[in-house]
Amino acid sequence: DILLGVMGDPIAHTKSPLMHTAALKALGIPGAYVPLHIAPGHLGEAIEAIRTLGFRGVNVTIPHKVAVMEYMDRIDDSAVAVGAVNTVVNDDGILTGYNTDGIGYVRSLKAEATPDLAGSRILVIGAGGAARGIIAALLLEHPAAVVIANRTVEKSKQLAEAFQGKGTVNGIGNDEIAAHIADMDIVINTTSVGMYPHIDAMPIDPALLREGMIVSDLIYNPLQTRLLTESRQRGCRIHGGLGMFVYQGAYSLEYWTGRSAPVDIMRQTIIDCLG
Ligand code: ATR
Repeated sequence: DILLGVMGDPIAHTKSPLMHTAALKALGIPGAYVPLHIAPGHLGEAIEAIRTLGFRGVNVTIPHKVAVMEYMDRIDDSAVAVGAVNTVVNDDGILTGYNTDGIGYVRSLKAEATPDLAGSRILVIGAGGAARGIIAALLLEHPAAVVIANRTVEKSKQLAEAFQGKGTVNGIGNDEIAAHIADMDIVINTTSVGMYPHIDAMPIDPALLREGMIVSDLIYNPLQTRLLTESRQRGCRIHGGLGMFVYQGAYSLEYWTGRSAPVDIMRQTIIDCLG
């Protein structure tokens, strides 16, 4: 049987076990995917236990995604680019760290909103870990430009700097969004603004959104944020955050099992549980 899990602190809220258990069942693969509550001081022992217990792999979530890197035998380019690991694969005791968050997001955006990102101009709101991951993956699609807007302008400039040589990336303050929005094809919210329970909050003034734009929100609780509701009313094409969660898990499962992930079943499992 295949043993899988997710390491985090806290861990009780995670929907990954539900999603992967449904996926394993759909594929007819015997095994289990369990939540593993790992306090920060015990991460090293926990990673060692992957080998001892014969786990095929784990997902790694908050607060361990960066710290876990030092315990890996190998780090895939996907994780080097982001500076964080969310997926560990155990090949006979050799542990490789991957990051499927960014590529999961892009796979979802392409599947659900626009098949081709080449030449597009993308506004990313937020300059934290989530933004870093998706920008790294977006740049592999050859967009014409990425503009990072953030409340704290120093952070967006710094993040843009980190991608130097990988594409045209610039950092601005949120107060400069109005001056840049006319050029943008896609707007992506990577901040937690609008997340349950603060569902009335908006990361961008909706008056800036225009018909035909793609508006994407990484938040999936609520499934449709106020940003997406207002964007749809203005004739934008909208893309929610559930797909990113589903596809980051899909890539992880594919690395562990070598099988195509049953993404429709994984998505439906989460929708059913969010109600
Ligand atoms: P994550 O890993 O989810 O990206 P993070 O690294 O803490 O989390 O980053 C959170 C991002 O959301 C930051 O860009 C943050 O802006 P600051 O850098 O100015 O802190 C942004 N953010 C969080 N709350 C916000 C708010 N109320 N208004 C605007 N931006 C906010």
